[in-house]
Amino acid sequence: IKKLILDLDTGIDDAMAIAYAVGAPDVDLIGIIGSYGNVVVEEGGKNSLKILELLGATDVPVYLGESHASHADHFDRLPISASIHGENGIGGVTLPEAKRPLETTSGVDFLIDAVNQYGKDLILVPTGPMTNLAAAIEKDPELPNKIGNVTFMGGALTVPGNVTPYAEANIHQDAEAANAVLTSSLRSTMIGLDVTLRNILTKKETQQWRDLGTKAGTAFADIVDYYIDAYADFDATLHGCVLHDPLAVGVALDPSLITSFDLNMIVSTDAESYGRTIGDTTRINEPNPNVTVGLTSDSARYLKLFMTYLTDLFKQ
Ligand code: BDR
Ligand code: CA
Repeated sequence: IKKLILDLDTGIDDAMAIAYAVGAPDVDLIGIIGSYGNVVVEEGGKNSLKILELLGATDVPVYLGESHASHADHFDRLPISASIHGENGIGGVTLPEAKRPLETTSGVDFLIDAVNQYGKDLILVPTGPMTNLAAAIEKDPELPNKIGNVTFMGGALTVPGNVTPYAEANIHQDAEAANAVLTSSLRSTMIGLDVTLRNILTKKETQQWRDLGTKAGTAFADIVDYYIDAYADFDATLHGCVLHDPLAVGVALDPSLITSFDLNMIVSTDAESYGRTIGDTTRINEPNPNVTVGLTSDSARYLKLFMTYLTDLFKQ
């Protein structure tokens, strides 16, 4: 059975990614690394603990990763995130304080140890900035050759960014880290806006959770409805929210959900196009490009899986 680590800045779609990982069969969620972005790192870590408790997954440890980008003048919380994810990161919904604490080992060391223990059986899904993964590679340069699968949510190749015309939020948080990861020998799959924008959840689905009448069903319906309303404020034509982070988990467990294109990539660190993910012209003719870029998805099949895993979990 595959081992899974999530590295996320919980965050509403991050919370859905946790639920997907807990609800999916045939995978063992061995830990969560807290990142910064939608909220500051401590709050993200605490949100992860609360979500796990709500889902009855109290055996999954939560570690804190880096608190901000390696470059000093960067935000440790994205300014617009309060309006998208709520002041507390989970749509203003108050969940009970978790009964257990965060782990004291650093998230970066936990990742390195897990890679050395599980090797190719380990799947890592970062759905926040790439700061922790870049730090782990810097500390253990052989990590890219040892780990099994890395599927990250971030970037945009065929569509504009969502925080600037060039950049998607997670990559924009720490473009230097993302560039270090994508230009290393690591093989990864990019689940960027190209493919996440094709996977939408509406209030029709959250109503099904609400109708369960359970604590988890109601809490998730409240949290995700906040996200759906926030999306509607940005784009009135969109009657739902985008399933960014849970799609990355879905594809990590079942790559046949997407069509893709392999490319050697770089991430721009120039002022204007900071955080842009684009093909690397200097490596365009190199064989075996190392990034598999998700382009389209079987969104109907994914939504079915998503609803089955989460609804079954919320029933309990
Ligand atoms: C990404 O940014 C965050 O707000 C979401 O959680 C997601 O990981 C989408 O650009
Ligand atoms: Ca996220």
